[in-house]
Amino acid sequence: MSQKTSAVYARNPLTFILGALFLVGLTLGIHVPATGALAQASRAAPEAATGAGDRPAAPIRTQMVVAAHPLAARAARQMLRDGGTAMDALVAAQMVLNLVEPQSSGIGGGGFLLYWDAAEKRLATYDGRETAPAAAGPDRFLRNDGTPIRWPDAVGTGRSIGVPGIVPMLELAHQVHGDLAWDKLFAPAIKLAAEGFGVSPRLNLLLTAMGADAFNEEGRDYFFDDDGEPHALGEVLRNPALAISFKQIAEFGAAALSHGPIAKGIVTAAREPGVATLTLDDLRDYTAIVRPPVCAPYRGFSICGMGPPSSGGMTVASTLTMLADRDLGDAPNAAALHLILEAEKLAYADRNRYMADSDYVAVPAGLLDPEYLAGRAGTIDSGQTMGRAEPGIPPDLGMMPGNDVSSENAGTSQISIVDRFGNAASLTTTIESAFGSRRMVAGFLLNNELTDFSFAPVDDLGRPVANRVEGGKRPRSSMAPTMVFDAGGDLWAVLGSPGGSRIILYVVKALVAMIDWGMDPQEAAALGIFGSRNGPAELERGADMDAFAADLAALGHEVARPSMTSGLHIIRVTPDTLLGGADPRREGIAIGD
Ligand code: GLY
Repeated sequence: MSQKTSAVYARNPLTFILGALFLVGLTLGIHVPATGALAQASRAAPEAATGAGDRPAAPIRTQMVVAAHPLAARAARQMLRDGGTAMDALVAAQMVLNLVEPQSSGIGGGGFLLYWDAAEKRLATYDGRETAPAAAGPDRFLRNDGTPIRWPDAVGTGRSIGVPGIVPMLELAHQVHGDLAWDKLFAPAIKLAAEGFGVSPRLNLLLTAMGADAFNEEGRDYFFDDDGEPHALGEVLRNPALAISFKQIAEFGAAALSHGPIAKGIVTAAREPGVATLTLDDLRDYTAIVRPPVCAPYRGFSICGMGPPSSGGMTVASTLTMLADRDLGDAPNAAALHLILEAEKLAYADRNRYMADSDYVAVPAGLLDPEYLAGRAGTIDSGQTMGRAEPGIPPDLGMMPGNDVSSENAGTSQISIVDRFGNAASLTTTIESAFGSRRMVAGFLLNNELTDFSFAPVDDLGRPVANRVEGGKRPRSSMAPTMVFDAGGDLWAVLGSPGGSRIILYVVKALVAMIDWGMDPQEAAALGIFGSRNGPAELERGADMDAFAADLAALGHEVARPSMTSGLHIIRVTPDTLLGGADPRREGIAIGD
């Protein structure tokens, strides 16, 4: 490389203060305008001085990382500068995120990875989803009387903890796509864990909201002081236990988590009286899986994502396919929002009924059949809402599964990377809800991913639910790491977001914003959020969307204004530049050379 031009869309202090205020507002239920308001993010020139959310996407020429914390993005960029691939950079970013954004992801969790190999022009998708212990059964979340327990009564217990999959998946993908030595990828995270990092506003506020009593002893001792107060904003936090875990994984690979003292620690920390919690055999039997991508055409592009056990790729594909014949205009407008919401309702109705781990249940491929979807799209009336959508009958349906009862939360993160060779990685990585199961072992938190299963194994009609708990099964996810390819088959965009079951809405919003409305990735990330999970029309609280709310209400929509904390991390690939977008609702940045 002849010249390195380094550009950082670093968030300035004002943005941190706005972000902190926004988070305090979320935590306390106070109405604070989001920096990503629809009006601010319209196609008019964004304000220049208020940080990542409102800046135009500055061009980067060679390589780019977008991640949820500057330290993670910088660790990844260092790997790229050292000649590594997007895969090498990804491992470094994930390890640092485990340390500095422990509420969202880490080696005690799972994830899904899309990897574009530019030389071979091949897209691979990797499944590192957590699994239920082999001995888990459909009654895992039922009381003695057969009724489902409440989500809050499950999340912080051993019931919720699945077999972690992220490290086995990264190890597998690194064997195929990595160039740098595996142990080198852990150096930044080991150094930071040993020397310490400054507690961010988001980490401090989420710890304050969660409270010390939510954690096990190791978690309390690490995150809180002797008086039970969370470590202060900017306080340097060291995690020597995690440094040791990282060293073990650097040396022994994923086996360090399934054999030896860390594995025994995981099994002990996950124990729950009277529950079949994970065992050493479960840890040793875990396998990351290469699966076929799910792709759908949309306005001359191919939109590719992750198939089951995630519902993300299929539900994004189904929504966009139903919109393909509709004119959404060239800027956000109420008529377009109505059409998008209606398509999402239909897509979520199918998702909720049919999608689950396809190694355990038959997920009908016909859900993406163009004729089937054309029939579904034909039920959309531009003049009034359908209210609640019913699931359809896809052409290859076998047995009709039951209605699903599951709840998903938002402890997730997105890493998007393009390297100098043109390879790209989109990883959505999670420990499920904020701080996962809140059980810490060997410096990292264990997930609560099993709460993504339906708590009820059968519906009111006695039909088995597709996403019921079964031994070894992976809970259905909404994670939607996505790549877009142009008509020539060249990579056009890399994106994804955290956000639980709203992830699909966030990704659809960003795709429509870029493809239909011509926004750059920063504008697309910041754009006010809209969508429907087959319930009310959800319009982001604090975003300037009152006019849309009124127009949608006039079409019969029940309109809700929830706080929605997407974390869209986007890279647009153009013939000469890379354009980054980091969601202003979180602490991420886009950096590159
Ligand atoms: N736990 C969030 C998801 O997998 O969608």
